[in-house]
Amino acid sequence: MSEQVDFKTSDASSYDLLADRFDHYTELVSEYAVDTLLDTVSDCDGDIIDIGCGTGIVTLEAGRRFGGDKKIIGVDLSDGMLDLANRKAEANGLSDAAKFEKADAENLPFSDNSIGAAVSLYAIRHFPHPEKAFEEMFRVVKPGGRIAVAAGSSPSLFSINGIAAAVKRISREIMQRTGRELAACDHIDGLVQEFLSSPTASEVAEWTEHRHSYSGSLKTLACLAGFHIVKDQWIGKQFEIASVQEFWELQTTFSSVARKRLKNARPKDVKTLKYKFDEQCNAVLARGGRLVYRVGTAVVIANKPL
Ligand SMILES: C[S@@+](CC[C@H](N)C(=O)[O-])C[C@H]1O[C@@H](n2cnc3c(N)ncnc32)[C@H](O)[C@@H]1O
Repeated sequence: MSEQVDFKTSDASSYDLLADRFDHYTELVSEYAVDTLLDTVSDCDGDIIDIGCGTGIVTLEAGRRFGGDKKIIGVDLSDGMLDLANRKAEANGLSDAAKFEKADAENLPFSDNSIGAAVSLYAIRHFPHPEKAFEEMFRVVKPGGRIAVAAGSSPSLFSINGIAAAVKRISREIMQRTGRELAACDHIDGLVQEFLSSPTASEVAEWTEHRHSYSGSLKTLACLAGFHIVKDQWIGKQFEIASVQEFWELQTTFSSVARKRLKNARPKDVKTLKYKFDEQCNAVLARGGRLVYRVGTAVVIANKPL
């Protein structure tokens, strides 16, 4: 198995057993991003594909909004995610409006110029060759069609949001240093590095290592594939997490490093890590502090020229 196929398989399968939990938390924190993506493609003619659809949060909402007029198809490589996506479609009466297929974002099973719009939420950072995913979107989208691609991201350093974030970072640093805040997913990633031995294979796509802001990369990737940028934006949200257990579940599901490392860790190491996790969270709550999940999202919207 080539290294690239191996990474894709292990990345997608890391979600298989956590699909229910992933779905619960993505439904809680991703609604604003789903709306942003779908609002930008509402005027496009033709079918819509959702790349790296997971449990179908975007695909199913697209089915609700546009189903009947267009075909909506979600593609993903995780059997567990696709299985739950199909069950949700059935439970919500959306099986005709939204379909799901197992497929690789870097090798889409659609013919040239056949799709009205492609959307993708929080998936591009999982692809080892994002340039291939953008080339594939360019190939399958019709001339005049659109893409809307979103990635978890810090704001660009020199943007208004970037300056605002830098100012806020100072007060957050103070909160964290005085033990009154823990923030996902840096919190679990730090504990994982401390308590679980390092893996031999990469846990994140190599091009994302040490990168925090994705606005520039998304625009460059879209332009290199041939798209014309219509708009790029950054949106941020903060969620306060009520309980220590929810904070554990959210982080161990959303952090690729934690999800993969915990899956292969020795039970006694996981126990030690969890003990430390609970201790730290309870200490913060006892001081009247908070457990937070901050999510920033870079979105690029681009058209395929006529
Ligand atoms: C963070 S989840 C996002 C899921 C969904 N879009 C959401 O926002 O709830 C990333 C998804 O990308 C999928 N994925 C990873 N590599 C993939 C690939 N090469 N092709 C298609 N999907 C892939 C994973 O299986 C996972 O479901």
